[in-house]
Amino acid sequence: MASTNQVFIAVIGAGGVGKCFLSQLQTLATRRPVPKLSLCYISTSKKALFKHDYTSIPYESAINDLAASTAAPLGLTKVVDYLAAAPSKVVLVDNTSSQDVANAYPVFLSRGISIVTPNKKAFSGSYTLWQDIFTAATTSGAKVYHESSVGAGLPVISTLKDLVDTGDEVTKIEGVFSGTMSFLFNSFAPLEGSGGKWSEEVKKAKELGYTEPDPRDDLNGLDVARKLTILARLAGLPVESPTSFPVQSLIPKELESVASGDEFLQKLPEFDSQMEETKAAAQKQGKVVRFVGSIDVATKSVKVGLEMFDRSHPIAALKGSDNIISFYTKRYGSNPLIVQGAGAGGDVTAMGVTSDLLKVLSQI
Ligand SMILES: NC(=O)c1ccc[n+]([C@@H]2O[C@H](COP(=O)([O-])OP(=O)(O)OC[C@H]3O[C@@H](n4cnc5c(N)ncnc54)[C@H](OP(=O)(O)O)[C@@H]3O)[C@@H](O)[C@H]2O)c1
Repeated sequence: MASTNQVFIAVIGAGGVGKCFLSQLQTLATRRPVPKLSLCYISTSKKALFKHDYTSIPYESAINDLAASTAAPLGLTKVVDYLAAAPSKVVLVDNTSSQDVANAYPVFLSRGISIVTPNKKAFSGSYTLWQDIFTAATTSGAKVYHESSVGAGLPVISTLKDLVDTGDEVTKIEGVFSGTMSFLFNSFAPLEGSGGKWSEEVKKAKELGYTEPDPRDDLNGLDVARKLTILARLAGLPVESPTSFPVQSLIPKELESVASGDEFLQKLPEFDSQMEETKAAAQKQGKVVRFVGSIDVATKSVKVGLEMFDRSHPIAALKGSDNIISFYTKRYGSNPLIVQGAGAGGDVTAMGVTSDLLKVLSQI
């Protein structure tokens, strides 16, 4: 019979977030000895660490042991079989951004394996995958939480779920959902001063590590569109995919197909005038331009792109690379419920994953 005093934890992905999660898991396991949290599997895309008899992997040496491992990761079907045969409940922690791992969630869940993850892919892919995930969870009783898939550790998803579950009527959700876009616009069009040239700000953001290796992966708006897809679905809109609503890309058409991110950055100054015009048009109206996502629940419209905001608006006053998400609801009236703070970073993202794990532990 399955032991209720032990829960097995399997971790796929040990990068920036995965490493921080493991450190938080170690602290959690010490602070809360019951149920015993046993790490039984950990992998990257190239290596894995596990024992066929589910012997616990020591937290303190897991990352080094994984680096030294010569074992290749199991295929996903084998991971499912291995975890489903464990002698106690299992929680899978997916710290990758892999679509393949995300596609396997319905199978993991249907075999009773709960999932916590910051990976957006499962919840912002096809609507069919979304339905399959939650149907599998409902049928098997396994749990699935993904707080850090929007706004990293900020309580965005839990807040929206609480609003909906307690019967409030969410009318609109609006915000800055990307730390990269936040940083870019807060320095390109700041409230004080005139800000830098667009191409220089993009270059600076890349140098500071705020962008993906190819900044076009941030500027195409898809990352924000994925987050909006997740929130819109939680608010009750059956959004088909992150490309099924208008998403404004900030990549000049001419630079969409240049070969590399470096070439893109080299040629971007030729297009600075386009963004300068947008900034000037906002200034003329006493406003600032920001890259936002919004969901109008009543009209079922979702969009991502540039908008102008009064200088007194909370979105205009954002600092650094912070995210801000405003929930307009019937109960909150004209003053929205606002969640604001760091929306990226290993430690805060892992915090969302660890708090999801605590929710699962209290329910299984
Ligand atoms: N970093 C943040 O601030 C932040 C904020 C919010 C959400 N997130 C989300 O958190 C997740 C992790 O982000 P990260 O910054 O930690 O990424 P990362 O540093 O690139 O790490 C990803 C890890 O996943 C592994 N991996 C990738 N595909 C895999 C596969 N198919 N099977 C097994 N392992 C695989 C990688 O292994 P290899 O090294 O061998 O490829 C690596 O260990 C992503 O979904 C991201 O969108 C991150």
